[in-house]
Amino acid sequence: MARSSTGRACGKVILLGEHAVVYGVPALAVGIDRGAEAVATPVEPGLPSELRLGEGVRAAAGSDSDVGHAFSALLEALDVRDPVHVAATTDLPAAAGLGCSAALGVAIARALRGISGTAPLAPAAIAARALAWERVFHGNPSGVDTTVAAHGGCLLYTRTDAGPVFEPVPLGAPLTLAVGHTGEPSATRVMVDAVARLRERKPDIVAKSFDGIAALVKNARLAVEAGDVVGLGRLLDLGQMLLSGLMLSTEKIETMCRVAREAGALGAKLTGAGGGGCVLALVEDDASGVLEAWSAAGFRGFATVVNPGAVVVNPGGAS
Ligand code: MEV
Repeated sequence: MARSSTGRACGKVILLGEHAVVYGVPALAVGIDRGAEAVATPVEPGLPSELRLGEGVRAAAGSDSDVGHAFSALLEALDVRDPVHVAATTDLPAAAGLGCSAALGVAIARALRGISGTAPLAPAAIAARALAWERVFHGNPSGVDTTVAAHGGCLLYTRTDAGPVFEPVPLGAPLTLAVGHTGEPSATRVMVDAVARLRERKPDIVAKSFDGIAALVKNARLAVEAGDVVGLGRLLDLGQMLLSGLMLSTEKIETMCRVAREAGALGAKLTGAGGGGCVLALVEDDASGVLEAWSAAGFRGFATVVNPGAVVVNPGGAS
């Protein structure tokens, strides 16, 4: 019987462009050093294929739950026909805007591909397969989460009718980020639907916001390349204003952004779908002041540094 195979993927933080990316505006996102790992093991013929997520969730392929449906979709996308058991873990908070489900989807896809005996798939091809998993949870994902989960580094990502287009963005300087959790869940599907409804009701206002976000992304890319973290911080603050205008912010998000800025952050905004979830704060080079200020205000967070030359976790896909 074939041996087990391990797949890994990273979580992500969207610097700028969330929501607008669903409608074809580019987004700027970075992979972070937290993520997901999955181990796939072939089992006896006749046994059901099963996925275990952490210690809690267990779902057989085809069982009537989101995880069961997503697992089946992934098995189909990777053409896995023989029974397999997969155990996956993640150190990303779920429903927090950090790409937890995408990282799990990519890690599981890599592990499944690893037991197939065929060559590892390139990151873009793995991301495309993992989208089948992501669609079950998020309905209409832009694909930015799975793409960054598979590639890592800093990417400019655009959804087009012909498929995803993305390019690595070289960093002129490390990006030191404090990432904090509001303690409120963020449901991507619900928030994407809310923006879709707002767009139906107020198309002009939403179009103007998306134009503004597109301009911020363009400038943020230049700032990232130039290592201009002060300029990037200002753009993050402007991004937060536009996202608030789209009704994606909450009182806790606003509090966390304010506390971070008062503690010396260069800029702060929600990241991901909003309505809860995480806030990111860009700092010069030491996130501890922001993390302490958040902690004093009752919020938990962690620091992550994106370094120039940061590369994909486990590029080949399986081990
Ligand atoms: C979620 O991480 C980012 C959103 O833009 C949704 C998507 O891109 O699929 C809100």
